[in-house]
Amino acid sequence: MTLHQGRHFLNIPGPSPVPERVLQAMDRQVIDHRGPEFGRLGREVLEGCRAIFQTEGPVVIFPGSGTGAWEATIVNTLSPGDRVLMFETGHFATLWSKMAARWGITVEFVPGDWRHSADPAIVEAKLAQDRAHAIKAVMVVHNETSTGVTSRIAQVRHAIDAAHHPALLLVESISGLGSADLRHDEWGIDVTVACSQKGLMLPPGLGFTAISQKARAASKTN
Ligand SMILES: Cc1ncc(COP(=O)(O)O)c(C=O)c1O
Repeated sequence: MTLHQGRHFLNIPGPSPVPERVLQAMDRQVIDHRGPEFGRLGREVLEGCRAIFQTEGPVVIFPGSGTGAWEATIVNTLSPGDRVLMFETGHFATLWSKMAARWGITVEFVPGDWRHSADPAIVEAKLAQDRAHAIKAVMVVHNETSTGVTSRIAQVRHAIDAAHHPALLLVESISGLGSADLRHDEWGIDVTVACSQKGLMLPPGLGFTAISQKARAASKTN
């Protein structure tokens, strides 16, 4: 049997270690989850999240892991039969595309070698060909944890705009947010998906989505 001394250090890309001062802050008695103190805390946290995502819009917090926030993004912005454009940048893009397919979405999955990011030139070419605007969303994994491949989200946005196409830009930044530069509003992202246990260095169990005005409108007609 191995005896560990001190705190165990989990040496994997996530869950990342929770800083000591956060662990200590968690070590206190619960508060009333229906009381005014929780209401104030909730508002403060939701407000603070906007700065992390660099957005003026709302951020939603889900009790769930990042995968739950993936699913929430799909079901709230898309409908069965919709088409989406995705890129095989690695393991997580592959899993997210399979989840979309299970929800009845037709995924055009641009093959890749897990060494290259989503190609903005391909985004522009595919969307320019789609004159009927059948493609409802471009879905990109910002940072592929398994390979370290990071996609250029601002350039993907420019490509969508250059094609004059109305597709939503859905970005999975589960291991990007808090670790890599991520600018929800400036980069024109419609939904940014994230979770608690990577760049935010919190325990697993919370998923996040930052949502643009356009994505909110799409969710109402969905
Ligand atoms: C890029 C990426 N997406 C999705 C996931 C899945 O997140 P979760 O385990 O919180 O569901 C991970 C987890 O490692 C990840 O690194």
